[in-house]
Amino acid sequence: MPVLLGVDDLEPGMVLVNNIYNEFSVLLPHGRKLTEYDISALRRKFPEIMIQVIDPVLDELVEFDDDRHDREVATEVRKNIATVSKKVSQTLRSGVELKGPNVAGIQKVIEEMMDYLENNPVTMAIIEQSNSWSDYLQEHSANVFYLSLVMGNTIRNYVKQERERLSAAKSIHNAMNLTPLATAALFHDIGMTPIEHVYKKQDPLTKEEKQAIRQHPVRGAEMLPEQIDPMVRLVVRCHHENQNGSGYPEGLSGDRINIFARIMRIADAYAAATAAKAYQKAKSALQVLHEMLNGPYRVFYDPVVLKVFASIMQPLPIGAKLRLDSGRWAVVVRHNQGRPFQPDLIVAFDELGDPLTNDQLIGPFPLGQRPDIKVVTFGDEDVSFLNELCNEEAQLEPEQLTQSAGDLLDFVYP
Ligand SMILES: [Fe+2]
Ligand SMILES: [Fe+2]
Repeated sequence: MPVLLGVDDLEPGMVLVNNIYNEFSVLLPHGRKLTEYDISALRRKFPEIMIQVIDPVLDELVEFDDDRHDREVATEVRKNIATVSKKVSQTLRSGVELKGPNVAGIQKVIEEMMDYLENNPVTMAIIEQSNSWSDYLQEHSANVFYLSLVMGNTIRNYVKQERERLSAAKSIHNAMNLTPLATAALFHDIGMTPIEHVYKKQDPLTKEEKQAIRQHPVRGAEMLPEQIDPMVRLVVRCHHENQNGSGYPEGLSGDRINIFARIMRIADAYAAATAAKAYQKAKSALQVLHEMLNGPYRVFYDPVVLKVFASIMQPLPIGAKLRLDSGRWAVVVRHNQGRPFQPDLIVAFDELGDPLTNDQLIGPFPLGQRPDIKVVTFGDEDVSFLNELCNEEAQLEPEQLTQSAGDLLDFVYP
């Protein structure tokens, strides 16, 4: 199906695999044959974007994973949540408190998006950072909502299956009500609204500004409407608590932190690190996931929820072209669920970027499984560390959830 190309490598006649969005309106629809004009518009608007286009030769030779469904679901949810999140920000900026009538419509959209995600399950979570949004908080809240809910659904489905297995019951509904998680995710950073300027600041933050940031979970919890579910207030308050007790405001640790806050902590860290900010360039999905799973900060996160997260993430998109140490190029053709750093590759292009002939193709094989074929770069990014990660244990073992996350189950069996 696709190869993923930078704008400068596009040529007229290539066919788009996915919709291209400008914020959330479709700029160019999937299936479109690109014209010279389209390409120059893309180059002007999104010089850094990578675009999946159909490669008819490769398409005949190998079956690619089709991630369009997952992409569409992600866009739909993020679009709707960004819209209500914008309303929340506007309300707060105009000095109006969040009260029942203001939030009734918001709660309806939250419920709709929860139903939509439940009825359209995804195999992996995709968030594309737009870089073109004027309002950082709105995009961020939408991304945290989406990632938290995909994780929440994964855990709930597991718990539900396990419960059915243990009790031999036919079907059990409402194994875990995710509404407080969803609501808290949407509102989690409203405490930042009064100090939004710090997102745009390029100079180092002052002591007072740092202090104000540390206050935002408590402040946000206080800004929530009076009648809100107390669990939402709790989760907003705890969304920067760390597993090892190093977080704020309370320095809570382990299972003293509400499970929804532990889920959101991971969604929040990922969404924030992969977004560009005034003071910091966006990190790649690959780098962020690698750091979260293997870096020193992994002690901030609940280890089991982190595995759930790894099981739904695929930082290398289908069609990604990876430079090999031989100078040739491999393309990502399939994802292996639970192994985010080990997609299946096919070596498909020679040193000059020209397609190999049929009999010269190598693969598909999982990245890291061929000692003679090493990846070097993806775009500008050094990805050679992936060659050593082939035994990465991101696989989610059912026993592990049962044993080390007893509290996940306790939460469902009150
Ligand atoms: Fe926050
Ligand atoms: Fe956040």
